This record gives sequence, structure tokens and C-alpha cells, in this order.
Amino acid sequence: MILVTGGAGFIGSNFVLDWLAQTNEPVINLDKLTYAGNVQNLASLDGDSRHIFIQGDIGDSELVKSLLQQHQPRAILNFAAESHVDRSIHGPEDFIQTNIVGTFHLLEEVRAYWGQLDGEARSTFRFLHVSTDEVYGSLRKDDPAFSETNRYEPNSPYSASKAASDHLVRAYHHTYGLPVLTTNCSNNYGPYHFPEKLIPLMIVNALAGKALPVYGDGMQIRDWLYVKDHCSAIRRVLEAGQLGETYNVGGWNEMPNIDIVHTVCGLLDELRPRPDGKPYAEQITYVTDRPGHDRRYAIDAGKIERELGWKPAETFDSGIRKTVQWYLDNPAWVANVQSGAYRDWVATNYAERTE
Ligand code: NAD
Ligand code: DAU
Repeated sequence: MILVTGGAGFIGSNFVLDWLAQTNEPVINLDKLTYAGNVQNLASLDGDSRHIFIQGDIGDSELVKSLLQQHQPRAILNFAAESHVDRSIHGPEDFIQTNIVGTFHLLEEVRAYWGQLDGEARSTFRFLHVSTDEVYGSLRKDDPAFSETNRYEPNSPYSASKAASDHLVRAYHHTYGLPVLTTNCSNNYGPYHFPEKLIPLMIVNALAGKALPVYGDGMQIRDWLYVKDHCSAIRRVLEAGQLGETYNVGGWNEMPNIDIVHTVCGLLDELRPRPDGKPYAEQITYVTDRPGHDRRYAIDAGKIERELGWKPAETFDSGIRKTVQWYLDNPAWVANVQSGAYRDWVATNYAERTE
């Protein structure tokens, strides 16, 4: 079996669902259930004995030790993290605790577990660390896309904490020989995306008749990948990646934020027109920028394509249409995640942003 951390979050839950749709290999899912973790993402697995959900912290050494001893996983996939840049600006401490200290404690337990394996169990064991393109910092307009050899230049508390975790993972390979793999992926979108992030926030705000808050001039560029393509890349790296290597994962799909917002508005105009017949784009509001906002990310996914034969299955057009349709089809999920804590976050993040 495999152990997935953070498997109740956006990407982790998509990964667990896809994994169990494609194989019968069981999954232990260790998730702390922070505000971003949601067991409803996994509701379709209720009663499925291949999925063992454990609520807990990757930094809880005793818990991790006992899970490893009891279940003897052949691989660990580390999705667990604090993941939202704006939250890291308002309160960096949780990011340091989970992304750095938590990853350290997890690595220590995995090192001890792997150290007492032998034979094939030892040689085939893998620790796959899921990371981000944000560790490379911000690109200028004409810079080439990030390759695996780019310098790390993280600019937010979030990306700095992910960079630190990547360095720890690298060091555990170099120093102790731990069989690690790291993926650095661009912006994901798709089902179960918590509506604090750009695309789901725009969908839920548009449908609620609220403002669509675009930071700064809206010309920051991100490289978007449908979440199920990220999951297929992780499966491929787990299967065939070279130990100690890092793989950039992206969709060759750079777009300015304002174009993303107009695309979402256009799809909603088609699929769920406003009662007054006016375009959703009328709700777009430019607001105060994110401090230290990275201007551009772009991923060169050439290495994973060449060496492992991975390619995304979705184009942005097909993926964003599926995504908007998913939100329209799942109003109960959307209502459920908009709890009091969610409303408090929205008030914190947007109250001080002037138009
Ligand atoms: P998310 O915030 O939706 O989910 C994170 C999950 O981790 C949640 O279920 C949360 O409960 C859990 N978690 C948090 N702290 C924990 C802890 N201490 N112990 C155990 N579980 C804990 O994040 P996501 O968007 O699904 O991102 C998953 C991973 O992928 C992260 O490592 C992130 O840095 C990385 N990543 C995300 C993107 C993206 O666009 N969302 C892109 C590239 C890489
Ligand atoms: O690049 C990968 C990263 O992508 C992941 O590592 C992070 O976990 C993930 O959250 C995402 O980070 P971003 O900061 O790029 O995503 P976010 O959805 O928060 O913002 C995307 C862009 O949209 C960014 O330029 C900020 C802008 N934005 C965001 C929000 C929430 C707005 O203009 N308005 C908003 O209200």
C-alpha cells in the first residue's frame, strides 16, 4: 500500500480518488483536517476498505511511526502543506510548522522506517515530495520558463517554506541515501479546489453576485494545469522517476489573471446566465495588490516529457469548462465549504483592499 499525506485537500483528494479508480492498491490517508482538508471530497470512498483515513499531523512522530510499522507502505507521497500565499502573508507561522518542521519530522520517521527495511522492500521504497514552481521566484516577461536547474528564489513565506522542505528532502537523499523524488508543479485547477484560490473564488463569487477581486493590474501570469494531469504526472514519477531527481510539471499554458477571470465569466454567461442577462464580467473589481506579488511563473516541462513520457491530457479550454461545470453541479459542496471560518478569512483578506 501507499501512504498519502494531505489526501483530504484539493490535489491530495483528487490523487486518492484517481489512484483508487485505477488500481486496487490501498491508500492510507494521513490528514490533519485543517480548514483546507475536507472529508467530503472523499465521500465516494465511504465503505471502501482500500481507503484508510487517519486524522493526524505529519509532525506527530509517534503517530507516523506507528502508521509506518502497522501498514508497511511501499511509498509515501507528501501532499500535506499549508498552501495559500495570502494566508502565509497574514500568518506565516503555520507554514513554518507544517511545511518545514512537519516535513522534517516526517522525513525522520521515514528514514528510520526505511532503514530497517531490507531486500526488495528497501530497494523499491520511495518518498515523493509534492512541491511548487513558486520556489523558483518570479520571471520577467521574456525570461525562459523555469527548468529544474533554476536557482531557488522564493519570495513569499509560503514559497520560502516549500523551498526549505525541498532542501530537506534533497539533503535526506544526499546524506542518508533516502530514495526521494520531488515534483515542482505550476498552478492547478479543477474539482474540490477550495474557494480561497483564484479560479474557484471567481466562480463562487460570480454566482453569488459578489465582486470578482482582481489584485493589482491583473497582468500577473500563471501557468495552469488541470489537477488530474498533475495527479497523472505524480503517478508517473513514482513509477519511473530517477532517485534524487526533481521534475517540473506544467501545462505549457501561461495566462494573465485577468484573462482567466474573463474566461470563467464567459463560461458562466453560457452555462448559467445571470438572471438580469448582463455579463458576469461586470462584477470584476480591481483591488489592492498582494504584497510581494510574483509577476510571472512558467514551467518548462520538457524533462518529464522527454524522460518519463508524461504529457497533460487536458487543454486549458477543456479543463476549465469541466471545472466550471463541476462547481455548477456541486452546490452542496460549495455551500458546505463556505463556513463561518471561510467567511472570516474572506473578511480578513479583502476588507483592507481598496478598489
Ligand atoms: P490544500 O491546502 O488544498 O490541502 C492541503 C491538505 O494538507 C489539507 O487537506 C490539510 O488538511 C492537510 N494538512 C495541512 N497541514 C497538515 C499537517 N501538518 N499534517 C497533515 N495534513 C496537513 O493544498 P493543495 O492545493 O491540495 O496542495 C497540495 C500540495 O501540492 C502542497 O504541498 C502544495 O504546496 C503543492 N502544490 C499545490 C499547487 C496548487 O496549485 N494548489 C501547485 C503546485 C504544488
Ligand atoms: O504556482 C503554484 C502555486 O499556485 C501553488 O504552490 C499554491 O499552493 C497555489 O495556491 C497557487 O498559488 P498562487 O498564489 O499562484 O494562487 P492563487 O489562486 O492564490 O492566485 C493566483 C493568482 O491570482 C495570483 O497572481 C494572485 C491572483 N489573485 C488571487 C486571488 C485569491 C487575485 O487576483 N485575486 C484573488 O482574489
